[in-house]
Amino acid sequence: MAVTHTLTIIKPDAFGAGKSGQIVAHLEQAGFRVVAARVARLTTEQAEGFYEVHKERPFFRSLVAFMSSGPCMPLVLERADAVAELRRVIGATDPAEAADGTVRRLYAESKERNAIHASDSDENAKRESGFFFAEMELIANRQVNER
Ligand code: CMP
Repeated sequence: MAVTHTLTIIKPDAFGAGKSGQIVAHLEQAGFRVVAARVARLTTEQAEGFYEVHKERPFFRSLVAFMSSGPCMPLVLERADAVAELRRVIGATDPAEAADGTVRRLYAESKERNAIHASDSDENAKRESGFFFAEMELIANRQVNER
């Protein structure tokens, strides 16, 4: 399986609760390597832009308010089959449905305040990585130069 990249965000609930170190350790133990990381406080407009695909959903305004309520930690991660593997490791959107041992089962509070985001396709991983990080940072730190 090819080494690829994905974008994750440790969301304001988990970051604010001081869980970012444990979550990054969990991801590293699952075989992910951190390519880029930062702490960011999203504005309302930035949260709207990031979650634009959900703008018609009933939870959109609440999601935007939550994601701009405090600092979060976006990271670009690298490993074999990164998108699918990260979604497996974080578990279902709703922590009540997430498998035992997944990040959301361990750290999430609810379907909205669910601790962590993961890109859902290679195409979205590229878009979402570009939302938070400059091409320069991504190229410098990659082990493989997949575009
Ligand atoms: P995420 O993986 O970041 O993608 C979209 C986010 O919307 C999701 O995690 C949740 O935080 C939120 N979300 C998805 N479905 C619902 C829902 N039914 N009610 C509230 N929030 C939701």
